[in-house]
Amino acid sequence: MHLDSKNEAWLLGRKPLGGWPTNGDFKWVTQEQYVPHRGQALTRTLYLSMDPYQWGRRRSGAETPGDVCHGRTVSEVIASRSAEYGEGDIVFNTNGWQQFGLVGAEINVFGYMFPRILDANAAPISTAVGILGMLGLTAYSGIYLQCRPRPGETVVVSAASGGVGQAAGQIARIMGCRVVGIAGRESKCQFVTEELGFDACVSHLSPVYTEDLRKACPDGIDAYFENVGGSVYEGVLPLLNSGSRITLCGMISQYGDAQPERASERWHATGAPFFQRQNVTVHPLFVRNFVDQHQAAFLEAMSAWIQDGLVRYREDLWVGLENAPEAFEAMLKGKNFGKTLVRVAPDPTSDDRLEAGRSNGNVLVV
Ligand SMILES: NC(=O)c1ccc[n+]([C@@H]2O[C@H](COP(=O)([O-])OP(=O)(O)OC[C@H]3O[C@@H](n4cnc5c(N)ncnc54)[C@H](OP(=O)(O)O)[C@@H]3O)[C@@H](O)[C@H]2O)c1
Repeated sequence: MHLDSKNEAWLLGRKPLGGWPTNGDFKWVTQEQYVPHRGQALTRTLYLSMDPYQWGRRRSGAETPGDVCHGRTVSEVIASRSAEYGEGDIVFNTNGWQQFGLVGAEINVFGYMFPRILDANAAPISTAVGILGMLGLTAYSGIYLQCRPRPGETVVVSAASGGVGQAAGQIARIMGCRVVGIAGRESKCQFVTEELGFDACVSHLSPVYTEDLRKACPDGIDAYFENVGGSVYEGVLPLLNSGSRITLCGMISQYGDAQPERASERWHATGAPFFQRQNVTVHPLFVRNFVDQHQAAFLEAMSAWIQDGLVRYREDLWVGLENAPEAFEAMLKGKNFGKTLVRVAPDPTSDDRLEAGRSNGNVLVV
């Protein structure tokens, strides 16, 4: 097999100055191709996941200037010196923001993101960095394992059309709850109700957002899946019922703050009077804590829901590695519509022929 002799990559260009990504944070480079050692395989990145936590890593210094930007990927094995991975295997791994990467012996994995070989017949392979990956497990852990809503209860999900939010709301719907989404523009709200089957969705961009939310939750809120924080959260607080539960999954509206590390403190301080009055339980969520014990059950449940047509899923697909910084910034600022990912190379399991840029298909993949 002919191997490309070069590997194009985005490096972290500098420690981010603060706020949101700006020009200069990322640096495009062409490097020598990797050579797999014994026990390793060379993979070509097919899909690269864009996730909010990547910005946290960059801002906190966990990623340092000159590092290849971290990211979860779906890749194809193109040359192997490993007994575990054969040429043509499609794997979930963490190549990061680059065209190629190694998998196998002595290759660093990021914490809990252990590589695995995917079954391309079971589901579209891109779902391994989405609804059938950490993102789906996050939603499952927060709703099914933490909030544990009962049928008929009202569950509210913020960033409802996004990667985690789509999954969280649909799981609550499957559990028999009344599900209310919060999203940005109207087209997102429409998608959430019409395609995903939420009972209602309100726009946080509405000048009367708080009033709209109150009307959409006439019996108050029993469980809240928090993805956003800030004013979205403040609209939820007065509606929390006695004994309600919150999964604190993320606070994306605060990730560009001067002191993002203090966002959680502020969040708790704002909610404290309501939590006390209504005896609210807050469950902090870190998906890593659920992997060992719950990933297998989650994959089984979610695969079955997808097979049965109970769960749908929308991707916001960008094409071309060169577009990664733009896709990343769009996702952080709510300009995405669905789970954001970049197609780095043509998908050998799909016939789609997509032009470079933002895909004209914001595709419903399952
Ligand atoms: N705890 C964990 O282990 C864990 C794991 C994965 C993800 N997360 C968290 O889950 C959340 C969702 O992540 P995701 O990957 O699925 O991203 P996403 O929801 O696909 O994209 C982010 C969404 O956040 C919303 N948003 C951004 N800025 C906002 C603002 N200022 N005000 C209101 N909404 C805003 C936007 O939706 P609208 O346009 O609809 O507002 C945007 O589409 C994030 O907070 C992330 O940190 C946590």
